[in-house]
Amino acid sequence: MYKVNKILFCGGSGYVGNYIMKLSAQQYPNVTHYVMSRRGTLRKGDSITNNLTNAVPLKADCQDIETYPRELEQCNSIVHTVGTLIEGKKPGTSYKEMNTDSVVKIATKFNEYAKRQEVKKNFVFISSEKAPPFLSDYITTKRDAEDFLLNECKHLNVHILRPGFVVQPQDRTWSPMVGCLVNIAANINEGIVQKTPLGKPLDFLFPTHATKLETIADVAIEGAHGHIEPKIWTNYMLQNYQASEK
Ligand SMILES: NC(=O)c1ccc[n+]([C@@H]2O[C@H](COP(=O)([O-])OP(=O)(O)OC[C@H]3O[C@@H](n4cnc5c(N)ncnc54)[C@H](OP(=O)(O)O)[C@@H]3O)[C@@H](O)[C@H]2O)c1
Repeated sequence: MYKVNKILFCGGSGYVGNYIMKLSAQQYPNVTHYVMSRRGTLRKGDSITNNLTNAVPLKADCQDIETYPRELEQCNSIVHTVGTLIEGKKPGTSYKEMNTDSVVKIATKFNEYAKRQEVKKNFVFISSEKAPPFLSDYITTKRDAEDFLLNECKHLNVHILRPGFVVQPQDRTWSPMVGCLVNIAANINEGIVQKTPLGKPLDFLFPTHATKLETIADVAIEGAHGHIEPKIWTNYMLQNYQASEK
């Protein structure tokens, strides 16, 4: 195992990405945290993030290889948090482009660098456990990205996290309330609906349990710093990790 000193956060100015980046940057003050997004800015209005001396914003589009920063080559790890729940109509905003291509393109380049440098690099991918009702393409495009990482990126230690609805009271004050409703629906599904003959066909109508952003961040940081074995973290496993943390 080698020392991680540079991590690139794809989508590091977003809700999930900024939280993970901010926590990691505080825990590892000597590690450079590159925050990549199309706007090339740190998260606006977050005073902790904007006072970090080891967070460096980079402007690049993970769907466009031509824009990749030269810093990418020297990074030991990527934490990838680009994706969309709702497909857009503009170029670059389809499920395939946002949830699959944005992963495949940068992972391909990162895998090439790892091969050339004869090292294993870490790739943490924030996927998802389940699609909301009638948005099944959301999850199939996420699974396509996972398959690519697991089958085509032999030089990467791939950590896949599959959370449910993400709860974080400081950044999204309304998220605990929604998380509560999500958990009630998930419990009804598990405790009642799935025990009936109609359970399987009705399963798509129900969410999985909500996941604390804190838990996602803890696991993602361990993966990015090479402290845990690469694997798929289902939401159930994240929930258990969450429980064991208490
Ligand atoms: N939020 C949830 O409840 C939840 C639940 C399960 C899974 N997830 C997954 O978690 C991930 C992050 O979600 P989020 O809620 O944090 O999203 P978000 O707040 O919309 O953040 C997305 C980030 O990605 C950047 N971005 C978008 N397209 C990009 C591109 N082509 N190249 C580079 N950067 C790009 C955005 O900045 P720019 O616009 O400046 O590029 C932003 O920093 C997603 O993959 C989502 O599927 C979220």
